[in-house]
Amino acid sequence: MQNISFDYIENDLRLVEDQFKIHLTTETPLIRKVAEYVISSGGKRIRPMLLIVSSKICGYKGYNHIPLAAIIEFIHTATLLHDDVVDNAPLRRGRSSANMVFGNEASVLVGDYLFARSFKILSSLGNMDVTRAYSEATTLMAEGEVKELVKTADIKTTEDEYLDIIIKKTAVLFACASQVGAIVSSKNDEYGQNLYNYGLNIGIAFQLMDDTLDYISDEEFGKFIGNDLKEGKLTLPLIHSIERCLKEEKDMVSEIIYKKKLGKTDLKTVLKLVKNYDSINYTISKAKAAVSKAKDNLDVFPDSGYKKGLIDIADYIIERKL
Ligand code: IPE
Ligand code: IPE
Ligand code: MG
Ligand code: MG
Repeated sequence: MQNISFDYIENDLRLVEDQFKIHLTTETPLIRKVAEYVISSGGKRIRPMLLIVSSKICGYKGYNHIPLAAIIEFIHTATLLHDDVVDNAPLRRGRSSANMVFGNEASVLVGDYLFARSFKILSSLGNMDVTRAYSEATTLMAEGEVKELVKTADIKTTEDEYLDIIIKKTAVLFACASQVGAIVSSKNDEYGQNLYNYGLNIGIAFQLMDDTLDYISDEEFGKFIGNDLKEGKLTLPLIHSIERCLKEEKDMVSEIIYKKKLGKTDLKTVLKLVKNYDSINYTISKAKAAVSKAKDNLDVFPDSGYKKGLIDIADYIIERKL
């Protein structure tokens, strides 16, 4: 990831990668095959980075941040496996998604395995506060995905409802990764809430940018545009337009969002609407505001290379293309 290459991150991330191998040893080869297919396909490792830098900024000197960072990526991977089945996604990280290669059944079951394995490792670490943080995050994530499903193709979805969904399905895991750095360092009382809020805000910005990229990304970066629309998923760029557009425009969106198969002109029509109402810029401005709040949450820390690392991660969220 650009701008973020401190030695301590590189070394620790290598140790995290070793953990993946250790914990994917099972007597059932399909588990390893599917999990490795996703894990080794070039994820950005943002959540493990957050956990590592957060533990360092709290002065952590132990080793447990390594397995904890591996677990956060396992949980993330499990949700991606499930999410791509739910979203019928053809691509993940620039190549065919696991559901396309191995089928929905294998994706769901290996996702379950990764969740279960994560909690097995957590229980072996014996830190109840850390376990509670992961349990709360994963429960909210599952709730967020279900809420999003319920809101499929509902053109009355409001910005607040959308925000609630993205906080749950995405931001709480960023918040957990950041707060666990404080918990594992026994600095939760001092810094836990600030790091949690920092993570939550960059997580919100992250999903806002992800939903923006679904409208403006380029296939060269490994994402097709229009997948959210195709799946009837209303995200902020479209919600913002719907709240402002004419009745006939709303009727047209309503018709398109219900279609099982989009025509080429459907996507173009919606893209034009979203551009006319300046909804992409609106969404990006919301993401920037969240990043700015995230940086304010770091005010409790004195300047240091670690603080700069967290600021760089926050800035990267807006700049990313993939
Ligand atoms: C993708 O997350 C899922 C969302 C929350 C939008 P990332 O973009 O962090 O996924 P990888 O791990 O880097 O591929
Ligand atoms: C991803 O949500 C959030 C989780 C995996 C919980 P999306 O469905 O919006 O993300 P992408 O676009 O598939 O990565
Ligand atoms: Mg998806
Ligand atoms: Mg999804």
